[in-house]
Amino acid sequence: MQAIPFVDLNKQYESIRRELDEALSRVFTRGSFILGAEVSAFEREFAEYCTVSHSIGVASGTDALKLALLACGIGMGDDVIVPAHTAVATIAAVHAAGANPLLVDIDPVRYTLDPALLAQAVTPRTCAIIPVHLYGCPADLFPILQFARKHNLLVVEDCAQAHGAVYQGRKIGSWGDIAAFSFYPTKNLGGFGDGGAVLTGDPARAEKVRLLRQYGWAEHYISSVRGINSRLDELQAAILRVKLKYLDEWNASRRKLAGLYYELLSGTELTLPAQPADASHVFHQFVVRHSRRDQLRGYLKDLGIQTLVHYPVPIHLQPAYADLGCPKGSLPVAERASQEVLSLPLYPELTEGNVARICRVIIDFFNRKSR
Ligand SMILES: Cc1ncc(COP(=O)(O)O)c(C=O)c1O
Repeated sequence: MQAIPFVDLNKQYESIRRELDEALSRVFTRGSFILGAEVSAFEREFAEYCTVSHSIGVASGTDALKLALLACGIGMGDDVIVPAHTAVATIAAVHAAGANPLLVDIDPVRYTLDPALLAQAVTPRTCAIIPVHLYGCPADLFPILQFARKHNLLVVEDCAQAHGAVYQGRKIGSWGDIAAFSFYPTKNLGGFGDGGAVLTGDPARAEKVRLLRQYGWAEHYISSVRGINSRLDELQAAILRVKLKYLDEWNASRRKLAGLYYELLSGTELTLPAQPADASHVFHQFVVRHSRRDQLRGYLKDLGIQTLVHYPVPIHLQPAYADLGCPKGSLPVAERASQEVLSLPLYPELTEGNVARICRVIIDFFNRKSR
């Protein structure tokens, strides 16, 4: 029986190989590799896709978050509210900006920041909230934005896992004051290396990110502010321009395959991902949940099916973050999720036959237990 990998990037490459090869050769022939025509065109096209007026390409999603915070004037001495259950990158970016992350527990159904907990988390030094649209599911932005407006806080959307997702009829990334995207290769829109983008409707913040991403240069070799090197390169931009044209089609394919998982797994003991009525989920991950997660994962592995856990140890229980002031037990929803969640293979090119096979193995696992 053939193994089923968690993700297969080669299949996607093969499906659009001619276009990608043409785009790459265009860049090689032109001989311009940094902040040229491809980056400018991609920035325009991605901004339009997200219905936001400004998009700035940067070197990674982590940098996108960091530069978004810095462009909003957030840094040393400021508190930033973040969900306790997220990629470590969200927290790393807050620290990289010099600010202090305040971990808040998640909504047990959506796995995103629980807006009901904001009131008890906010401090006099809090400047911003970072809702993370985890696994492709939009965070419940409306109450978060309401709270932020009331307390004069900025909202920085972490969109790394949710390209193309929609919340209450509008694309994610267009709701907050500023937003960060990652183009890590396995993302719904991914390059062939690292990449990221900051999106905002505010021209002054957009300009600040443009300065910060290249040594603070308003003109060549003259730094008007202290910046860094965080540029999206021409090759990645050319790849992303090709792939952006397919993003909606690929997200539709993810949704269709997710639909099959729902259909085939609905009678099992697994908790299936929520599909909030106010949002259109883009299934960056298909995350199921069960108290015997590790046994199920081992059973699938023995039969050649690769799964992953996003994420096995919550941020506050990782050695590097022991000093965040959140002891074990203080973020119970995130702690329990990390013990029970399991990401099943889901990528646009996965076949329905393979989804059916994965589901048969899962059903068999639960049948064996009850025998
Ligand atoms: C939720 C979230 N935020 C931020 C990032 C950071 O993106 P990158 O890996 O491009 O730095 C990631 C990617 O892993 C992510 O999943």
